[in-house]
Order: sequence, then C-alpha cells, then structure tokens
Amino acid sequence: MQLQLATWPEVEAYLARSSGIIVPIGSFEQHGPTGLIGTDAICAEVIAARAGAEADILVGPTFNVGVAQHHMAFPGSMTLRPATFVAVIRDWVNSLAQHGFEKIYFLNGHGGNIATLNSAFAELNADVSLGGHGINQQRVIPDCVQQSWWLLPGIYDLCKQLYPQGHGGHATPSEVAVTQFAYPDHIKHVPLEPETAPSGRFTHAAQYREKFPDGRIGSNPALATPEDGERLVAAAVKALIADFRHFLNS
Ligand code: NI
Repeated sequence: MQLQLATWPEVEAYLARSSGIIVPIGSFEQHGPTGLIGTDAICAEVIAARAGAEADILVGPTFNVGVAQHHMAFPGSMTLRPATFVAVIRDWVNSLAQHGFEKIYFLNGHGGNIATLNSAFAELNADVSLGGHGINQQRVIPDCVQQSWWLLPGIYDLCKQLYPQGHGGHATPSEVAVTQFAYPDHIKHVPLEPETAPSGRFTHAAQYREKFPDGRIGSNPALATPEDGERLVAAAVKALIADFRHFLNS
C-alpha cells in the first residue's frame, strides 16, 4: 500500500496491524548522457512499491532530492545541503512517529545520502537521549534504519554477475537497467566515449565535472537492458521484504 494513495482510515487500520513503514529515498542528479536525472529515486521507489504491494507494507512518499552537491555542474541536478537534509529527515520521521510509526526503514538509492542519513538518525536519537522529545511523553520513539537497494543480500553479486566489467560507481548499468524496466519509453541511446568512464575520487562540483566530463564514474551504462532491470527488481523486492521483516522483529 502506498501512503499517498491511502485514506486516513486505511492508515489507521494499517497501524492497528503494523507500526512499520518503508520510505524510499533517492537523489535528483545527472546520471551521464543516458541515465535519467531521477534514477536514484526511481530505483528505490519502484523496488519499495512492489515490495509494499506484495507483502502488505505501507510505503511512504519518496524523498527524491538528496545530498548531491558534487553533481551541480551538470544541468538539472538539485541538492540539499547536509544540514538541510538532516532537518527535513527529522521532520519526516517525527511526523510519522506522531501517528505511531515506530519502525522506519529508508530504502536508499544514492550512496551520497548514506553518511548524512546516519547523521539524521544520530540527531533523532540525541533528541531522545537529551530529553528534547520522547521521554515520558505519550509519543512513539522512532527506530530508523537505512539500506541501499544494491546492498540488499545477494544484489551486488547479481550486479557483478550481469556486468563483470563496466559496472563502476555512478550511472551504473544496474541502476540504469532498473529505470529502463520502470520507464521503457524513456530509454536513451547516445554514443559513450570512452565506453567505460574513468574512475577516481571527487570533492566539489567543478572538480567532479573536470575529472568526469560526461558525468559517469567507472561505468558503461550501454550494457543495461530492461530485462536486466526486471531481474534486479525481482531480486531486490524479495530481499527487501525479508530485510524489512527482520527489522520489524529486531
Ligand atoms: Ni545513481
């Protein structure tokens, strides 16, 4: 069930049987000449929505602009500053906790969100520990975790099996394949030069564009197919349902 397509009585009924929710979280950033700007959010959203429908799990709205300052030299990218991101995550989590959601599982689609999302969880826990919220109040103390979809059990192995060469780190064929499966009318074909992009580290946006001129890092997304995307989504949905159930019982 998707929260945005539910009514409040349906949410109230869901809360009587579960206090868990999945929140897809992505980014809004360039993914090379063939990858969609929304790739990271789309991957998390598609996998979460299917898991939710299959296993009676409520899925919250997609947090679709993340920490992506390093992509800002490419048109269309948008970012939150880390401090803004932490503040907004706190408000999202506290809004859900207000209604009784105590197990909040962020399904992440962007490596650049991981550190800041953990900072947001640390702030939420500090709120409780320092007595700002939650203690001796009739309020749920939220328990939050994050999991990146490609790190779900078995998924990275499948990525490497599908793409033994040219997987890379950004605009990867696996994430592009998932978007091709989800949006087959938006598959882009553009020559990529070099075929496999350079690898390396980066700091700020101008330096990123200088080192990775077409936006990709270490990847050859021309290897992606919608059929691969279907396989990746099916495997990730299965792994997500198991991981979410494990979190509920932890
Ligand atoms: Ni990505």
